[in-house]
Amino acid sequence: MQLDDIHTVAVLGSGTMGSGIAHVFARCGYAVILRDIDKRFLDRALDSIGKNLDREIKKGKIAEADKPNILARIEPVTGMAAIAHADFVVEAVPERLDLKREVLAEADRLLRPEAILTSNTSSISITTLAAATKRPDRFVGMHFMNPVPVMPLVEVIRAKQTGDAAFDLTMQLCRKLGKTPVAVNDSPGFVSNRVLMPLINEAAYCVMEGVATAESVDTVMKLGMNHPMGPLELADFIGLDVCLDIMEVLQKGFGGDAKYRPCPLLQEMVAVGRLGKKSGRGFYVYDGVK
Ligand SMILES: NC(=O)c1ccc[n+]([C@@H]2O[C@H](COP(=O)([O-])OP(=O)(O)OC[C@H]3O[C@@H](n4cnc5c(N)ncnc54)[C@H](O)[C@@H]3O)[C@@H](O)[C@H]2O)c1
Repeated sequence: MQLDDIHTVAVLGSGTMGSGIAHVFARCGYAVILRDIDKRFLDRALDSIGKNLDREIKKGKIAEADKPNILARIEPVTGMAAIAHADFVVEAVPERLDLKREVLAEADRLLRPEAILTSNTSSISITTLAAATKRPDRFVGMHFMNPVPVMPLVEVIRAKQTGDAAFDLTMQLCRKLGKTPVAVNDSPGFVSNRVLMPLINEAAYCVMEGVATAESVDTVMKLGMNHPMGPLELADFIGLDVCLDIMEVLQKGFGGDAKYRPCPLLQEMVAVGRLGKKSGRGFYVYDGVK
């Protein structure tokens, strides 16, 4: 299959990432089949895509007249059978190996043999996911960043079984979407989370040990290292539970290496429900919730 043979893209899961991924494909002119398990999730996704398109209109990124056309290219569906004629699929269901295996195996059974399957997993082995399908050579990792319509990076991950044709096509497709793809071999945390999460974890250790307050740690990294956001502010935005899960994936994936030991403060905060921005409190307090 060549780039020009891709017309219809299926996105599995219409949450934070799936809705953003559907947005960028539809904006680029692709017909998008957006699949979730319940209509209310799809309604929420279309509502959020509409609002994000309004933001792009205000910024002059797209014309107002484009909005209805972009939305019309997205077909929300609850049944998996509707994805059968897709040329390219991006899976973005929750980060659970059993669920992803089941969804990918079902998609694999329905799709034409030449269709390419990809996963937006942030930490599960692409090699393991590829093995859940009968098209492991046409299986690729496609790690978009949140918020998808705004962030330029896509880590394109090559599983042990990924063939050159599918990999190169995925890289080309990212460029067509206006993204910058970076080729990465499958390894725990890929590059993004392997570098970012230990930084966040170390920042949490600094707070736990009383080296500095969260504000001070973030200021050091913003003003001293030119990071646009401090690591703890970023951790609150990502979700401290997500950060902890990824640290555990790294620790397990690297055979228990102590350098990936999750910070006890992070574990404690997650245990008491201080998950960051989404719960109203993490390293910082949001919306007046104490
Ligand atoms: N949120 C992030 O910042 C981020 C960044 C990069 C990658 N990821 C990865 O993207 C994936 C999705 O994350 P998210 O944050 O969008 O999650 P989310 O919980 O916001 O969305 C997941 C969606 O999948 C739906 N779903 C569940 N089972 C399904 C099924 N069988 N078929 C179709 N849809 C189903 C859910 O109803 C939900 O709407 C995860 O693998 C996550 O690790 C997340």
